[in-house]
Amino acid sequence: MALTSPWTHRHLLGLEQLTAAEIVSLLDHADSFLPSCKDPGAKRTDLAGKSVVNLFFENSTRTRVSFGLAARRLGAEVIDFAVGGSSVSKGETFVDTARNIEALGIHMVVVRHSCPGTPHLLAQHLRAGVVNAGDGAHEHPTQGLLDLLTIRQRLGRIEGLTVALVGDIRHSRVARSNIHGLLKLGARVIVCGPPTLVPPEICAMGVEVAHDLDRILSECHVLNVLRIQFERQKGPNFPGVREYFHLYGVTKERLARARQGVLVLAPGPINRGVELTPEVADGPSSAVLDQVTNGLAVRMAVLDACVKAVG
Ligand code: CP
Repeated sequence: MALTSPWTHRHLLGLEQLTAAEIVSLLDHADSFLPSCKDPGAKRTDLAGKSVVNLFFENSTRTRVSFGLAARRLGAEVIDFAVGGSSVSKGETFVDTARNIEALGIHMVVVRHSCPGTPHLLAQHLRAGVVNAGDGAHEHPTQGLLDLLTIRQRLGRIEGLTVALVGDIRHSRVARSNIHGLLKLGARVIVCGPPTLVPPEICAMGVEVAHDLDRILSECHVLNVLRIQFERQKGPNFPGVREYFHLYGVTKERLARARQGVLVLAPGPINRGVELTPEVADGPSSAVLDQVTNGLAVRMAVLDACVKAVG
């Protein structure tokens, strides 16, 4: 299926820069790739003759594997760049590394880095297209898109829904991409977590803030449960994991008090027993594994759209 809105972007750096029509067009495009995602034997030729490099300077399971698989399913050649064995260790700069890889004839660079703005820097220096696979706590646009796709698939719409992002908002690039996407498509967004993990400036994005999960449960159509990013925290942000779980953990008991049919999302990885219990993560309200499958379709759609804009 062709994109329903003209797509002229070589890069996908964030959802902040996209219009609602462009986001919907990418979601529709992703929908059209879903049958190929569910058929491992399906081999397409949309990106035959094109090369995609995965440039991951931070750990990843879902995003890295699904970008690689998405590119291969579309017929592209994929290069997985291993930072550990590269000349980065000899002092080569990030931009030099990327420019040298591009000189080998790369059409698309998928980049994850702990520093916000890294994909934007690359986009200024490369002729290749750049897709942001997560830059620090800034944006993770393909995660935002796959969350939107999963909500639309399960609940039939996004406009008019109330979506709560629960947990570590401060360190979450997923929260920021979700906020941009959800608000553009007409959802109401509540961010909910301990005051230390909800930066006050987040209100300027147009969201509501809550610190008491139990008070908002009955209003929410969707709970998107974010991981506590212990590795990005510079000190304790709450007294202990037990207190956090007591106040914000999504449990079967909490779900019983939530709106009927509430959808539970979690971008992963999950700290089981901290952000949500195993029975919720694996239960009927959860769409955690659907999110992963949808991530493959979203990444096929994004790579296809951006490569065609690169030409
Ligand atoms: N959700 C997500 O980005 O997971 P990974 O860090 O495993 O890619």
